[in-house]
Amino acid sequence: MEGAGAAAAQPPSAHPAVAPLAFLLGKWCGEGEGSFPTIAPFRYGEELLFSHHPSKPVISYTQRTWKAASGEPMHAESGYWRPRPDGSVEVVISQSTGLAEVQKGSYDAEKKTVTLQSELVGNASKVKHITRAFQVVNGDLSYVVQMATITTGLQQHLKALLKKI
Ligand code: HEM
Repeated sequence: MEGAGAAAAQPPSAHPAVAPLAFLLGKWCGEGEGSFPTIAPFRYGEELLFSHHPSKPVISYTQRTWKAASGEPMHAESGYWRPRPDGSVEVVISQSTGLAEVQKGSYDAEKKTVTLQSELVGNASKVKHITRAFQVVNGDLSYVVQMATITTGLQQHLKALLKKI
């Protein structure tokens, strides 16, 4: 069965809704730097996993971080990404700090970019607004996270560069 053999050699295809964001799928690992006007800068290690099942129009997302110097666990978060055919995407994220985010934004499958702005930040004592921007360049995933708090306007908090593993 030549046809069946050829099909078996292909990786499982993504759900049509997820296909434009296939550039994110997989496990990524690397390092980042954290900063904000009110805190001391810090370096962290990070692992991101974007996974999906071909029968569902959704990407599962998990992230964990650790102190670059000692390996001690830091922040972690997980959620779901729901891309839509019109180029929009909505994301829900729950953070290990208890904060909950609903993010809305857009993706560009050609440029391999996703930009998100918080529509809702819940259960946060200080955070008012969060933006996230992702880009795959030369096979590497980079992102920038900005936040606004009750004392400080929108500024960068996180920046990282991750490799596919
Ligand atoms: C500090 C929010 C992700 C590590 C803070 C502060 C806020 C915050 C509100 C306090 C700022 C202030 O007091 O003015 C967030 C949000 C995140 C996020 C909304 C995700 C969207 C992370 C991640 C890490 C991290 C991924 C670690 C890799 C830290 C550290 C501090 C901090 C080390 C300083 C704590 C201190 O000095 O006591 N973050 N954070 N954050 N964050 Fe994040």
